[in-house]
Amino acid sequence: MSAVKGLVLSGGKGTRLRPITHTGAKQLVPIANKPVLFYGLEALVEAGVTEIGIVVGDTASEIREAVGDGSRFGARVEYIPQLQPLGLAHAVQIARDYLAGSDFVMYLGDNFIPGGIAGVVEQFRRERPDALILLKQMPHPERFGVAELEGERVVRLTEKPKKPRSDLVLVGVYLFQTGILEAVDAIKPSARGELEITDAIQWEIDHGRRVTPHVVTSRWIDTGKMDDLLECNRVVLEMLPEFRDGKASEDSKLLGKVILEEGSEVIGSTIRGPAIIGAHTKVIDSFVGPFTALYHHVLVEGSEIEHSIVLENTSIRGVSKIEDSLIGRDVVIEKSQTRPRAHKLMLGDHSRVSLS
Ligand code: TTP
Repeated sequence: MSAVKGLVLSGGKGTRLRPITHTGAKQLVPIANKPVLFYGLEALVEAGVTEIGIVVGDTASEIREAVGDGSRFGARVEYIPQLQPLGLAHAVQIARDYLAGSDFVMYLGDNFIPGGIAGVVEQFRRERPDALILLKQMPHPERFGVAELEGERVVRLTEKPKKPRSDLVLVGVYLFQTGILEAVDAIKPSARGELEITDAIQWEIDHGRRVTPHVVTSRWIDTGKMDDLLECNRVVLEMLPEFRDGKASEDSKLLGKVILEEGSEVIGSTIRGPAIIGAHTKVIDSFVGPFTALYHHVLVEGSEIEHSIVLENTSIRGVSKIEDSLIGRDVVIEKSQTRPRAHKLMLGDHSRVSLS
């Protein structure tokens, strides 16, 4: 039997994360200063899946630049261009040549499972059902794909049902034998014009194939929306070990777990962890509160910020107080020096601002 391959989906539209996704891939948004996609690649390698095809769309060059040939992760990565984001089952269709008859794990590149996937890959290798799908009990199942079980079998999948018949929703990880390729060719696009993986799996169920559930007990976070990204950042900051490769002045206070990446500087400031200050980032005369991740080359001066993610090369000066925010790259936020002291904004399309 050939090795189980990985198929990581990193195309898509990313409409729910605009304007960040106007200029960058959502799979590269950093969670505790590491792109969310990297956690997925690490989880695959940890599960023994080292041949990985990444499906890429408009942001292909950025993803290629970040991941390269995968050797850094202990993987061999190839790229599979998807000309249009026509759905998860379409991504499987276009990966046919890459998969070349292997069993595979399909992993959505913006999903995060703190417990990893080694256990479920092991179950798949042992039992070899036609499909093994990860499920999680969720409070609002109607927002997701919902699975109905009969014993150890999945009998029905429904995409965003009005009246869900269970609270088990599909998590963004699926394991397939090669028969799924027949299913993705047999189905038609859904009302939203996409080839849905739920329809392909349902086709397999309807044709008597064995679809097995694996209920995840650890967390699962789909980072496709800002609130979920912030939650993921919170979860990972709590898990990370502390290290201090940067400098803090004597008059600064670092309370709780504060990670200082290489070349970072904290001057005359208080940082209340868990928080991470990225490489070559400066925090001057400021307060950085819990669950904040400042990426590399950020400047925070005379400001207060907490429970936020700030991307690279952004500067925040004289602003109190920023909370629950996702701030993009190369952004400047500063207190206006001239009268009137009004809010002067230059915002990209689809930006969202809440002013006090
Ligand atoms: P989604 O988050 O469901 O879709 P999306 O990226 O289009 O986002 P939005 O709903 O905000 O517009 O996609 C899940 C993952 O799969 C994500 O990493 C993007 C990827 N994807 C593809 O690679 N190809 C596709 O055709 C689709 C629909 C998604």
